[in-house]
Amino acid sequence: MGKYITSIVYAVAVILLTACGSPSSGTSGDGKWQSFSGDKRIEQRVDSVLKLMTLEEKIGQMTQFSANWSITGPVMSDDFQPYLEKGLIGSIFNATSVEGIRRMQQIAVEETRLGIPILFGQDVIHGYKTIFPIPLAEACSWDLEMMQRTAEIAAIEAASDGINWTFAPMVDIGRDARWGRVMEGAGEDPYLGSKVAEARVVGFQGGRDVNSLRELTTLLATGKHLAAYGAAESGRDYNPAELSEHTLRNVYLPPYQAAHEAGAATFMASFNEINGVPATADRWLMTEILRNEWGFKGFVVSDYTGVNELVPHGVAKDEKHAAELAVNAGIDMDMTGATFIKHLTESVEEGKVSEKSIDTAVRRILEMKFLLGLFDDPYRYLDEERAKQNTMTPEFMETARKAVASSVVLLKNDNQVLPVTKESGKTVALVGPLMNDSINLNGEWAGLGDRNKSVPILKGLTEKYEGSTVKLIYAEGASITGTTPAKIAEAVAAARRADIVIAAMGEDFNWSGEAAVRTDIRLPEPQRELLKALKETGKPVVLVTLSGRPLDLSWEDETMDAILQAWFPGTQGGHGIADVIAGDYNPSGRLVMSFPRNIGQIPIYYNQKNTGRPVDLNDESVDYKSNYLDTSITPLYPFGYGLSYTTFEISNAQIDKKTLKTEDDKITVTANVRNAGEVDGEIVVQLYTRQLVASVTRPVKELKGFQKVALQAGKSKQVTFELASEDLAFYGIDMQKKTEPGNMKLWVAQHAADNSNEIDFWIE
Ligand code: NOJ
Repeated sequence: MGKYITSIVYAVAVILLTACGSPSSGTSGDGKWQSFSGDKRIEQRVDSVLKLMTLEEKIGQMTQFSANWSITGPVMSDDFQPYLEKGLIGSIFNATSVEGIRRMQQIAVEETRLGIPILFGQDVIHGYKTIFPIPLAEACSWDLEMMQRTAEIAAIEAASDGINWTFAPMVDIGRDARWGRVMEGAGEDPYLGSKVAEARVVGFQGGRDVNSLRELTTLLATGKHLAAYGAAESGRDYNPAELSEHTLRNVYLPPYQAAHEAGAATFMASFNEINGVPATADRWLMTEILRNEWGFKGFVVSDYTGVNELVPHGVAKDEKHAAELAVNAGIDMDMTGATFIKHLTESVEEGKVSEKSIDTAVRRILEMKFLLGLFDDPYRYLDEERAKQNTMTPEFMETARKAVASSVVLLKNDNQVLPVTKESGKTVALVGPLMNDSINLNGEWAGLGDRNKSVPILKGLTEKYEGSTVKLIYAEGASITGTTPAKIAEAVAAARRADIVIAAMGEDFNWSGEAAVRTDIRLPEPQRELLKALKETGKPVVLVTLSGRPLDLSWEDETMDAILQAWFPGTQGGHGIADVIAGDYNPSGRLVMSFPRNIGQIPIYYNQKNTGRPVDLNDESVDYKSNYLDTSITPLYPFGYGLSYTTFEISNAQIDKKTLKTEDDKITVTANVRNAGEVDGEIVVQLYTRQLVASVTRPVKELKGFQKVALQAGKSKQVTFELASEDLAFYGIDMQKKTEPGNMKLWVAQHAADNSNEIDFWIE
């Protein structure tokens, strides 16, 4: 009841504030403030509040603290409570639970001079309580609808717990498997990355219409980390990205731009520098490109102490200077570093930062609070009953299970050792450190997911085969990093009694994610020792790999009978993986990052350049080519690759005309797809193009379209792609995005290394 009285009192206060406001005060910063919503009434209300604020209170809105209940980095800020009590905080993150959030919101709203509500953020990356497969895994499903739905569910759960804002999606292109944060993204391709970015933004925000943010089931999304965080040299986290503007614009920026075009309300600056300029101080990136070129109107938050880090980066002499550089570059909110609140008042007084730019930043932040309805009722998201009802529901669990099954990628399946059907009558030895594990399943950035509640693979398989003809024997055999002769002997004994071995191996969950970089991406030695011993029994061995990155599986590819790449699958991991192993779900996942043959090939990605001395893949021995002496230049498994329990054929690829104009034109591509096997299944049909001649060198292949097609055994279907002139545009020698004339090739393919359906065409 108290809550409602407070809300009424609060609403009256807001009406009074609104009445005091002057609609004419709509300009600030670099020019006219353009609201995110375009809603005149909200603009007026924002201005009416801004008018009442002192400079310090304004800067307070640009300040974010972590509630320190689940720290994700060094704590650089002072204890935030004194700031909260003075109304000098705009946002808090990591404040989980309805009760905790209510306590903080009450202080902000009822005990401060203006009572401006706090915006509560959280890293809701691949689920909040129901944890879905890691984003890299989900992307391997190539199922955009599913990815949108899992983001929607994450938003429903988190918003029901009082969260308003997620720091997701992470849309950084990942070409380097050493970098632990590839787990958070959608892999190496800008086209797929853009589609996934769009699906996730729309999922979190509940649609494309800004008004969906008023719903109690949605979150503000964050496109992060702007920009090219994934291009860190040597894969080392926070390391500089040294890359040309061409590569930045043609490869790295498209997914961020797609997040913006899908309506992302906020962006986060990345920690790293690009070509000598740390993103947090990069006005070109944060203002020229993001706002002036793309037209972004939401607000930009720094990363965790990203502003303070301008000092060790070596572009700011102290934290005050860092705060000035950041705000002048276009950063609207300082995450946890307290640099704005400590220094910007003085900077404004000294004329180093204009009050207009402060006003602009504050307007952007206040607007989101109005859009979310927090000014009308700051407690509107806080309802324990709703939180209970909206958490881990049977529907969410079902979606999570399907998400697991569709994210798993079958990399090898000799003699069709998989699936092990319920009718097979087989005895199966289940081994490996991740077979009976629940703690690692959620992977990193797993929100508030209870690691003890995730379904181990052993449990999933036990339930799956219960009452069937299949018999299971379990022996762990090794931990993630160690084993003993006795443990190996026990696993080998189990294997000897079995017809087939299934080994769940891989990484510890915190070997990927932030600051989790590996220079050896093979399975740890004790696990390989176990696999070797198992293989020596002569029994077929199926390896189920759990990892947050592509691993070097060269040895396993030679030795194992089957490999199922299961990533970190989340809450329903065991069930989803069991569905695939038993053949109740026919694997449909396709890789979104190339798997290297060894670490020396990294960075390796399909959309590489040809070079002046390209390698003839039919004769890799030829000297003086862009080749390696000791390994092939091809990946172990290419982008787009994945097997199924059936086989597919693509044939008769055709285009409706051979030439395309550079503008306002399109060609239609068709091909027949046939399920040539004996079980129903899904194929991801992929359309690639190559421009052979242009003003700048172009990749040897670029994904331009895909369709996930379900086909019953023996059935065929015609797929159709429309390829428009603008789909072939790129930043050329003059750094303008346009379509250039030139000779072209296209392929309708099963993966990036499949050249079987090739067609020539021309752009005139
Ligand atoms: C640092 C990470 O880089 C970023 O992705 C995350 O959102 C923040 N910490 C907050 O946890």
